[in-house]
Amino acid sequence: MENNTAAFGRMPDGGAQVDQITLDNGWLRCQVLTYGGAVRSLEVPDRDGRPVDVVLGFDTLEDYLAQDKYMGAIVGRYANRIAGARFTLHDKEYVLCANDGPNSLHGGAVGFDKRVWTAEEVKQDAVTLSLASPDGEEGYPGNLEVRVTYQLYQDTLRILYWARCDQDTVFNPTNHSYFNLSGHASGRVEDQHIRLFSDHYTPIGPGLIPVRTADGDGCEMPVLPVDGTPMDLRRAQPIGARIGEDFPQLALAGGYDHNWVLRPNSGLPAAMAFSKNTGIAMSVHTDMPGIQFYAGNFLGGCPAGKGGAAYGDRCGFCLETQFFPDSPNRPDFPSCVLRAGEEFHSQTSYRFFCRDSIDTP
Ligand code: GAL
Repeated sequence: MENNTAAFGRMPDGGAQVDQITLDNGWLRCQVLTYGGAVRSLEVPDRDGRPVDVVLGFDTLEDYLAQDKYMGAIVGRYANRIAGARFTLHDKEYVLCANDGPNSLHGGAVGFDKRVWTAEEVKQDAVTLSLASPDGEEGYPGNLEVRVTYQLYQDTLRILYWARCDQDTVFNPTNHSYFNLSGHASGRVEDQHIRLFSDHYTPIGPGLIPVRTADGDGCEMPVLPVDGTPMDLRRAQPIGARIGEDFPQLALAGGYDHNWVLRPNSGLPAAMAFSKNTGIAMSVHTDMPGIQFYAGNFLGGCPAGKGGAAYGDRCGFCLETQFFPDSPNRPDFPSCVLRAGEEFHSQTSYRFFCRDSIDTP
């Protein structure tokens, strides 16, 4: 056991101890909490070699308990929304917690983000966290075992997800880090560049639930092309460049908060981001079929952040790799069903490097 584990706090009413594990590979430094499996800090060298903490987080466990932003956390069992907080699997209906209007969001009332995980294996540059989610927890079927590994590999934070269930179930884990590549305390992110390697997105209706929309020929379309809309982020552009345009999809979500459809097996990243202030660029790679780009539109109202930083709306953005929202109710989307006894494996990585601009290869 490495000596990089320290107590961070204790859950209320004499509950479990929460630890913080500090990972360091000489290039990146990352603090992970057993509460929510959250990434609390991630230090990355800027263009002058100075460490910049590029994720938002809090100083105390009490602040984590007081916020509802899924700050840095592992989200599950089902990241994003399930319409009507219910789904049917093998002719049986499962009723979930409606914690976002009539819909279920990010695993329900007590999702993975609010659980204390067990640090199974701690190394200097990696930690594996585990969680057991019993049959029926938050309404989901099956006893589910989950393991998430955070690993620093050269200039990359890798997140490896593993799970197994004793019944067929649905499963869609993600990480909900809020990035600010100018530094977590540097304010709004609209001047930071974003690029998504995606030609289509899943259009949403009320409650941010994906809807089928009719194309010009009256055909039902589960996904829409980004062409000619502010959803086209295929060329790097400041997050704020088009976020305020008069476009119904943006009005529904208060800005970017949508699932983009990734190009399978393209070898390309899913996304890139860049801060011209620090020169820090980030590329995101994943084997998941979608990515939620959330511009932190409703981040305001959380406790003061690390060192007293004020985290208002749009002071951080999330790039949540995932199955598409509401997949359990959408047979036309890639399947999020995890079969009994099968092993779920998935990997998402965030790579950091410095550039003069995001378009520089
Ligand atoms: C995001 C989601 C947003 C919001 C946020 C938590 O993943 O897309 O709509 O719910 O989590 O505040």
